[in-house]
Amino acid sequence: MPVMSVEPCTFALFGALGDLALRKLFPSLYQLDRAGLLHEDTQLLALARDTGDASVHLGVIEQHLRRYLPPNELDEALLQRFVARMRYLSMEFLPPDGYPQLAEMVGRGRQLIAYFATPASVYGGICANLAAADLAESTRVVLEKPIGHDLQSSRAVNDAVAAYFPETQVYRIDHYLGKETVQNLIALRFANSLFETQWNQNHITHVEITVAEKVGIEGRWGYFDKAGQLRDMIQNHLLQLLCLIAMDPPRELSADAIRDEKVKVLRALEPISAEQMSQQVVRGQYVAGISDGKAVPGYLEEDNANAESDTETFVALRADIRNWRWAGVPFYLRTGKRMAQKLSQIVIHFKEPPHYIFAPEQRQLIGNKLIIRLQPDESISLQVMTKDQGLDKGMQLRSGPLQLNFSTAYGRERIPDAYERLLLEVMRGNQNLFVRKDEIEHAWHWCDQLIAGWQKLGDSPKPYVAGTWGPMSSIALTTRDGWAWYGDL
Ligand code: BG6
Repeated sequence: MPVMSVEPCTFALFGALGDLALRKLFPSLYQLDRAGLLHEDTQLLALARDTGDASVHLGVIEQHLRRYLPPNELDEALLQRFVARMRYLSMEFLPPDGYPQLAEMVGRGRQLIAYFATPASVYGGICANLAAADLAESTRVVLEKPIGHDLQSSRAVNDAVAAYFPETQVYRIDHYLGKETVQNLIALRFANSLFETQWNQNHITHVEITVAEKVGIEGRWGYFDKAGQLRDMIQNHLLQLLCLIAMDPPRELSADAIRDEKVKVLRALEPISAEQMSQQVVRGQYVAGISDGKAVPGYLEEDNANAESDTETFVALRADIRNWRWAGVPFYLRTGKRMAQKLSQIVIHFKEPPHYIFAPEQRQLIGNKLIIRLQPDESISLQVMTKDQGLDKGMQLRSGPLQLNFSTAYGRERIPDAYERLLLEVMRGNQNLFVRKDEIEHAWHWCDQLIAGWQKLGDSPKPYVAGTWGPMSSIALTTRDGWAWYGDL
C-alpha cells in the first residue's frame, strides 16, 4: 500500500544502457511500478549515445529486466505496462544539440528527474545543457558515486553542478543509505531511549564496521584499479555508516538536521598521520585462493589486469572521533573484496559491569554486543547474558541474542532493494537519504590524508589469500588494543 502519494514526473536516465541502469535502476523502477508507487502519468526516458532503432534499445532493457528480476516478481502484464512507459532517445550528453528534443519530450512545466548514471566528468556539462534548454527550474538531478577521486576533483564536480542547480535540487546517491537496516539505525537510536543513555564512551568500548564482499573485481578492473577500496567503499559507504552510529540526535527528521549532525562527526574524525599509519591502517590485495570451494585468481590475474598494480582491494583501519561522546572509543572499519563471506555488519561492544561476581573462567563471555546486520540477512540482535537452564547448571552464564530478524519478524514481505527506496525518495522530493556536498567533501578530506600517507611511505598492499578475512595485520589492528573482530572464523 502506498504510504504517500507520488506526483507524476518524467524520469530521464542518462546512461540508460550502462551496467548500473540495466542491473539496478530499471529493475528498481519496475518494482516501484509493481508496488503502485509510480504515478500512472510518470514517464521514463532512456537516454544513451547508441544510435539505431529505439525499439532495439528498449528491447535490450526489457531483456535485462527479465534477467535480473526474480521470476516470482516478474508479472508479464505489469512488465508490458512498465515497458510502455519508456521512450528511448539517442543523444550525446556534452554537445547541446540533443537537449531541445529532450525538452520537448519532457514537456513544459513537468517535474523532471535527471539521473546521471554516467562518469562524473560529464555531470557539469549535462547540467549546463539542461539549464540552456530551460529545464533547470523543474529538475531534480541525481548524481551517482564516485563524485571525483579526491577533494579537489569532487569540488570541481560539485561546483560545476551548483552553477546551475541549488543544493535543494541535488540528490547524491550513496546506495547504503537506502538499505532498510541502515535507515533502521535512525529508528533504533532515536525512537528508543534505551540505547541513547548508553551510547557513549562511558558504556561502549569499541565499534566495528565490516563490509566484506565475496566477489572479486571481475569485469570492473578498469574502473576499480583507478579507485581502490578506500575510495570505492570507505570514503562513502563505511563513513556514512560510521556517521549514523556516531552522530548526535538531530533536532528533527529533516534532511538538513540529519546531515548537519553527520557533518559534525566527519569534522571530528582524528586525522591519521603517515607516522601513525603502520599501527592504524592496513591495505591489502588478494592473491589466488578458494572461494565457495572453487579456485579463483588473484587481483593481478583478473581479466585485463595490469600485473604491476598496487591498488588495494582491502582496507582495515582504526578511526577515532574527537568529541565528548566518543573520546577513547576506537571505530574499526574493515572492507574488502574476495573475503570469506558476504557480510555487512556493525557491532557495538558495551563495557563489562563495573563489579564482576560470577565464576572467573566465564568472564570472557561478559560484555553486551549490539549487532546490526545489513547483509546477507537484515537483523538486529542484542547479545545479553543469561543463566544457562537446568538444575545441574548452577549459575553458569550464557551469552544469547535478543533478536529481530526483519524477514521473519515482518512476515513474507520482501525487503526492497536500496535503489527502490532512493528512487522513490527522489520522486517525493525528500533529501534525507542523500548526501550533501559538505559531507562528501569532509569525507574526501579525511581519506585524502590516508592516500597521501601511503604515497609518502611508498606503501604497498599486503597480500591476502582470496576467501579469507584479509591480511594478518588487520587482526593485529584490533588485538593491539585488546579486542578481536567479532565472529571471524
Ligand atoms: C559499490 C561499489 O558502491 O558498492 C562496489 O562501487 C561494491 O565495488 C558495491 O561491490 C557493494 O554494494 P552492496 O550493496 O552489494 O554491498
